[in-house]
Amino acid sequence: MNSENKTTRREFVKNAGVLTGGVMAMPMLSQANFFSGAEDTIKVALIGCGGRGTGAAMQACLTKQNVKLVAMADAFRDRIDKCYKSLTTEKNEEGSSRNIKNRIDVPEERKYTGFDAYKKAISHADVVILATPPGFRPIHFEEAIAMGKHVFMEKPVATDPAGIKKVLDAAEIAKQKKLNVIVGLQRHYQDSYRALYAKKNLIGEITSAQAWWNNDGVWVNPRKYNQTEMEYQMRNWYYFNWLCGDHIVEQHIHNIDVVNWFKGTFPVKAQGMGGREVRKGKDHGEIYDHHYVEFHYPDGAILNSQCRHIPGTMSKVDELLTGTKGKIFCGAATIQDHTGKLLFQFDKKTDNNPYQAEHDELFAAIAKGEYKFADTENGAKSTMTAIMGRMATYSGKVMEWDKLLASGISIMPKEFDWNALPPTVPDEDGKYPIAKPGVTKYF
Ligand SMILES: NC(=O)c1ccc[n+]([C@@H]2O[C@H](COP(=O)([O-])OP(=O)(O)OC[C@H]3O[C@@H](n4cnc5c(N)ncnc54)[C@H](O)[C@@H]3O)[C@@H](O)[C@H]2O)c1
Repeated sequence: MNSENKTTRREFVKNAGVLTGGVMAMPMLSQANFFSGAEDTIKVALIGCGGRGTGAAMQACLTKQNVKLVAMADAFRDRIDKCYKSLTTEKNEEGSSRNIKNRIDVPEERKYTGFDAYKKAISHADVVILATPPGFRPIHFEEAIAMGKHVFMEKPVATDPAGIKKVLDAAEIAKQKKLNVIVGLQRHYQDSYRALYAKKNLIGEITSAQAWWNNDGVWVNPRKYNQTEMEYQMRNWYYFNWLCGDHIVEQHIHNIDVVNWFKGTFPVKAQGMGGREVRKGKDHGEIYDHHYVEFHYPDGAILNSQCRHIPGTMSKVDELLTGTKGKIFCGAATIQDHTGKLLFQFDKKTDNNPYQAEHDELFAAIAKGEYKFADTENGAKSTMTAIMGRMATYSGKVMEWDKLLASGISIMPKEFDWNALPPTVPDEDGKYPIAKPGVTKYF
């Protein structure tokens, strides 16, 4: 987040080129009145109507502002239908505090499908929610910013160094246009993490850290007989790096990002190891099921990071920061000195829902004409950290940040079409090439 930067609403509208629908002709009312009328509606477009997109659209509509979902885009029509049904019916009984039916205004002509759907949906909105698999994020973010929209985008923000570069370039334009951007690294919006961050000086200089995302793994969408290779990979996206980035990028980014945040900087290099112990089926594509990475920060501090998707093994999703004077246990929300004496404890019973807080804070700022959120650079650099980790475990070599970022390495398809071939394809047995440490090379 950047520091609060208030502009008048008129300037904000002019600079951002957003908030359409008669707003420009409005007299300057008191702040409280800005979004009280129908003409003050903040229009939202949802790009990627899956699980998280549906949740984020719901959270946007549950804010205090006059928010309306006006357009939806997804690669697949069935995903739009499921999402639309969920937003307009399920758990939305009249009188329920979660009833958002009157905030959903997406007629048939504003439901778009296919690879270009995002462009059409974005054009209708003031604020865009980007919640597709992360491979598409750089393309969608670049377009949203070019069209002058505020953005809530899910993490990760890319799957390769070329994507990171695109996102960082668009972040500069977003700043110039004063467009608010929140990235869904929701621990930044969680009271317990914010309280720990505020007290982090209690542990002195952070000299090392540990981060875990160890659990059973996630869903699989098996191949169906009539799918093209492109449709199959898009439906089973978790297992293909151009779409997902591997689970070190897709999930473990949350924990790696916490360490970057508390350190106030990003690693300069990484080395590690990983592989596939149990994730060996044809529908498991090309990703690993475990990674261990040693990330080196500029001051010599080291983050030991581990992530594992293996059923029946120890589950742990957490971060631990060790400093010259003590330790921060993020999961327990406590700070101790090196003798074990409690220095600070956040009452977790009072913790907030950070997913809702992201939207509450974003829409409140937009409604007031404030330029307050510039999460992109941090989101891109934490994504880059995780990508560097993946490339370190895949190659078994030391990966250096500057070299990787400058490399322009792209793993995205050259063409987006249902009949085009994705960048990785199966052999005659239906198996995909898997990275092999010592053999896989990037330089
Ligand atoms: N912050 C969090 O805690 C959190 C939690 C869950 C998911 N996520 C993130 O949200 C994103 C989506 O995850 P999900 O679980 O909702 O996945 P999902 O598969 O449920 O939804 C993704 C949707 O995007 C659609 N899609 C794919 N390519 C598209 C394209 N080019 N244009 C338009 N639509 C496209 C898919 O058809 C699907 O409906 C991921 O980046 C994931 O990491 C974040």
